[in-house]
Amino acid sequence: MNFSDSEIVASILSEIHYQPTRDLDEADLILINTCSIREKAEETARKRLSAFQAVKKKKPELLIGVLGCMAERLKTRFLEEEKLVDLVVGPDAYRDLPSLLEVVEEGEKGINVFLSKEETYADISPLRLGSNGVTAFISIMRGCDNMCSFCVVPFTRGRERSRDAFSIVAEAASLYDQGFREVTLLGQNVDSYKWANPETGDVVSFARLLEMTALVHPKLRVRFSTSHPKDITDEVLHTIAAYPNICNYIHLPVQSGNSRILEMMNRTYDRDWYMGRIEAIRRIIPECAVSSDIITGFCSETEAEHQDTLSMVQYADYCMSYMFAYSERPGTLAARKYPDDVPEEVKKRRLQEVIQLQTQVSFRHNQRDIGKVVEVLVEGNSKRSDADFCGRNSQNKMVVFPKKPGIQPGDYVQVHILDATSATLLGQIAEPSKI
Ligand code: 5AD
Ligand code: SF4
Repeated sequence: MNFSDSEIVASILSEIHYQPTRDLDEADLILINTCSIREKAEETARKRLSAFQAVKKKKPELLIGVLGCMAERLKTRFLEEEKLVDLVVGPDAYRDLPSLLEVVEEGEKGINVFLSKEETYADISPLRLGSNGVTAFISIMRGCDNMCSFCVVPFTRGRERSRDAFSIVAEAASLYDQGFREVTLLGQNVDSYKWANPETGDVVSFARLLEMTALVHPKLRVRFSTSHPKDITDEVLHTIAAYPNICNYIHLPVQSGNSRILEMMNRTYDRDWYMGRIEAIRRIIPECAVSSDIITGFCSETEAEHQDTLSMVQYADYCMSYMFAYSERPGTLAARKYPDDVPEEVKKRRLQEVIQLQTQVSFRHNQRDIGKVVEVLVEGNSKRSDADFCGRNSQNKMVVFPKKPGIQPGDYVQVHILDATSATLLGQIAEPSKI
């Protein structure tokens, strides 16, 4: 989400002749796009801001700004109390950057943290930053209306709003024309995507949007994230099953495997409901891989409730998960309602248990792929060796294989899987892909 925002900001700034640079010493303006989701993310952002202060000491005309969620959350604190930055720009105010920069150049501080009910940046074509030229993100909605009790997003990113479906499809088509072969449709809760065509009144659902994007070109892969267990419909699952270029992979965060904790988290589903969704996925898309987000040590979580999370990892057979110890965020429902009473060491120990189990489950998941031939979209050189390519299969698994003449990033290849770790499949090219 944040990455996608940076690409929108880069596009807005390119209109006033700023260009991205990787060289800190060359920069006239440093913008740090911040996240408030966990305390650690905020600490990291603060550390980087202090480091930039040192650069500014040597080069006083350098401008420093904070973008995104922390900007919204901490507003004037950065500008006035801590005097760390010249600019504070919230997630719905990026269009205001050129005029805020003018204010700053006149020696004033620039701030806009206004949250909008309409802004989707639909007409802005993002400047692809650090792109591999093959895969790209498309933001399809902003904000979130869900109010999970642990989560700061509804406060920092505002109300949920969906972007014009035709602008999304046009962006996908333009990416395809530029050589991109995979797009990931991004939103906090893609299943509640809903856009009414102002001319016809027709409503585009997420299932329909998926289909419209899949129809851009059969060689353009479509992914999406994040799905919400309460909202993902069978219609979405049937759409995934119907189009070979919609990837067989769903990120379906469970957060906890226990119904009482889920209720306190205000997730509005329980353990049985979640299991029912996993069953539906297996029935409708048998090859589909599922991944999750998991929080350990949420307020009042007992040892037995933690065990429910562990058993859910087994049941859902996640190919991977993002796992976190609960971190209380100021202003959230949980911070107001429930004491953060699971000791830090217990949260951490439970987190280690979940990580350990997930690593085993991922390993088992990947071992089952040995011997299969899978279609891989080549993304570029593997991290470890320039003699190997890497890319993902439909299930979003990273596949590494030796290069072969004539094959280049953006090509589809069939890879015979010969070995697997908990994180990667290893193989060799079997034959050129048919599609
Ligand atoms: N503490 C720990 N993890 C959190 N997440 C969101 N808020 C918190 C919090 N307060 C995790 C959730 C969410 C992911 C993006 O971050 O698992 O799905
Ligand atoms: Fe946060 Fe819940 Fe919205 Fe996700 S769905 S952004 S966890 S409030």
